[in-house]
Amino acid sequence: MSRLRSAMNKGTRVALEATEATPPRKKRPKTAVKREETTDALTASSSYHTFSDPADVVRLCSHLLSWYDKEKRELPWRTLAVTESDLNIRTYAGKKQLLFHKCAYFILTAPRALLPRCFSLFLSVWVSEIMLQQTQVATVIDYFNKWMKRWPTVQDLAAATLEEVNQMWAGLGYYSRGKRLHEGAQKVVSQLKGQMPRTVDSLLKQLPGVGRYTAAAIGSIALGQVTGAVDGNVIRVLCRLRAIGADSTSPAVTEALWSLANMLVDPERPGDFNQVMMELGARVCTPKAPQCSQCPVQSHCRSYRKVHVKQEQNSAKLLGKLNRNLPDIEDCMNSATCSLCPSEPWDDELGVQNFPRKPAKKPPRVERTLTCVVTRAGNEGEEEYLLIQRPNKGLLAGLWEFPSLLLEEENSEMKHKRVLCGEVSRKLGTNVTESLLQYVGEVVHIFSHIHQTYVVYSLRLKDGGSQTENTQWLSRSALQEAAVSTGLKKIVKLHDSVDNVKEKTSKVSSSVFSIMELIL
Ligand code: ADE
Repeated sequence: MSRLRSAMNKGTRVALEATEATPPRKKRPKTAVKREETTDALTASSSYHTFSDPADVVRLCSHLLSWYDKEKRELPWRTLAVTESDLNIRTYAGKKQLLFHKCAYFILTAPRALLPRCFSLFLSVWVSEIMLQQTQVATVIDYFNKWMKRWPTVQDLAAATLEEVNQMWAGLGYYSRGKRLHEGAQKVVSQLKGQMPRTVDSLLKQLPGVGRYTAAAIGSIALGQVTGAVDGNVIRVLCRLRAIGADSTSPAVTEALWSLANMLVDPERPGDFNQVMMELGARVCTPKAPQCSQCPVQSHCRSYRKVHVKQEQNSAKLLGKLNRNLPDIEDCMNSATCSLCPSEPWDDELGVQNFPRKPAKKPPRVERTLTCVVTRAGNEGEEEYLLIQRPNKGLLAGLWEFPSLLLEEENSEMKHKRVLCGEVSRKLGTNVTESLLQYVGEVVHIFSHIHQTYVVYSLRLKDGGSQTENTQWLSRSALQEAAVSTGLKKIVKLHDSVDNVKEKTSKVSSSVFSIMELIL
């Protein structure tokens, strides 16, 4: 019983502790912060950008974790039970207990052959962390739930086809993430005997698509490994906490932030510590309109202090008072040479948003693409759409799209129709009449690095000609479920709206025609 209780208390770590000895937890040294882990960047800068008093680190962790225990969002990957696939039947109160009870009971009693199921907890952290790269929590939740329901174990995922994976990922963006997850699952099953890597290093080395952050997140959350994890939210929180204002993408700042995170991570609750940092960044220490009054670590925040001292100094100046009793702004002692100090002056208007600083983004590439919605009447009377599969590498790899061509230069509508007609004819292995093409309109879709405008035409065929490799005709309902991008869905919407207008206009003109007939 005591074994069970201790397993339950240890939460998410339990699944792996029972099957493999993970390194013992490090206790935070009482008198010294783990200085050996700090890199040159952090040690070279003044103590202003770090935490030199170990007691401060302990207080910071305690404030953060108490806030997390009260305020954390209930997210499916945080509570997914090992043996329960239906998330809806569990209540909040029951969830945790169920998770730990089932997990601990299962591990203590299950035959070894069944143990891979334990890794569904691991799998869920892996899946969620990949989905959460560049995507908001609110968007990920639905995708995650559907994914885990369909592929609850790594073996299930490995057995899926890439087409099914792309289909499930449709709309989430950055499609190579799904592909890599799938490749990773296949590797675990075929090369690693179904065993997930169990350390941050091996996660990093062995799983495609798992980089430094993701390995650290999975390692700390699913395996209880004592490591910090630095993502975009954590960068913001740490830069503000320690007034790090140099380019946050520079190697010196990156290394300093990882060192800070490794120094701060709570050795008893590394996964929770990393998640509270992310949570704080997502909900309180936000890029715009940060909620400093709600922040559990306001008293540790150098930027917050700087804002208030500046405000007091400014109002004293306005009142013509001397700075006699005003606090000094503690600043970095080496600001002239420090690789973590901002190169630009503090901007009063920005307040804590002075940090972090990023170099100006490169403007996105501007592209225009000709695309044609080709339809025909299908066998069941339902409209069918012609789709072409994109190459297996590069942007939107393996996804289905309407016949498309990148526009190299601005051309007339006539030229558009000619080249599109050629493309559709090639894909269908038949000659299509140019005059059947109609201009529909334009759709703008922004990718992270491309500002894409689709110049949309439509083409209604009597029959579809022969089908070549990488083409398919899909009914409207199949199209909704297919592995297609959000850009394509926008094109369909525009096509529908123009179709509706045409239908209405033709109805109005035919009723005008009937009235005219009556009058005459
Ligand atoms: N972003 C990335 N990982 C996350 C997590 N585990 N919880 C909340 N937000 C996240």
